[in-house]
Amino acid sequence: MVTQTLMPADANETVEQSFIRAFRSHPGGVVVITAVSPDGAPAGFTATSLVSLSAYPPRATFNIVKSASSWPAVTDGALLAVHFLAESSSELAQRFAGPAANRFTGDHWYSNDLGLPILRDAIGVLVTRVSTVVPIDLNAVVVLDIQQGRFSDNYPPLLYHNRHFGTVAVQPEDVI
Ligand SMILES: Cc1cc2nc3c(=O)[nH]c(=O)nc-3n(C[C@H](O)[C@H](O)[C@H](O)COP(=O)(O)O)c2cc1C
Repeated sequence: MVTQTLMPADANETVEQSFIRAFRSHPGGVVVITAVSPDGAPAGFTATSLVSLSAYPPRATFNIVKSASSWPAVTDGALLAVHFLAESSSELAQRFAGPAANRFTGDHWYSNDLGLPILRDAIGVLVTRVSTVVPIDLNAVVVLDIQQGRFSDNYPPLLYHNRHFGTVAVQPEDVI
């Protein structure tokens, strides 16, 4: 059975270790979420926790650790930009998961007419407004109302799997 191959019963493995192994095996699409900090500086981070919540109305959620440097920018009603990355943009994903001081040095971004930091090389961008923040211990679930969007289907998306960046390989016969 597949489950036995991925997660053999191991009396020495804690539930936390099983959890980590399960999510390492579970690929995630990579986005960069940007915002404006209360002091006016751009903020942003790489995330795989973005999930569609509903299409009517268009809503999505993501999770953030409250110790993140971007957390002060994630307030009720704040505008956030969600950038979908192409396979060729793993460097951007690493930059926005690395030292915060390096994330906005360079010309890979600009401020749009709303003042939001926009990454030039994203496959797609959703301009969103925070509608609900649900703090849960050290983390929070954030609900976004989608205000505007643009997306190009023509690029392979960036995925994160087992501590590596890659992309998806879908055979034509797999398409439903
Ligand atoms: C592939 C990947 C996915 C990540 N997903 C999330 C996420 O969904 N939520 C989150 O809070 N941090 C996530 N992180 C960590 C953030 O990118 C960032 O490193 C963290 O917010 C700490 O940032 P700070 O140095 O600004 O405090 C992810 C990192 C990587 C490499």
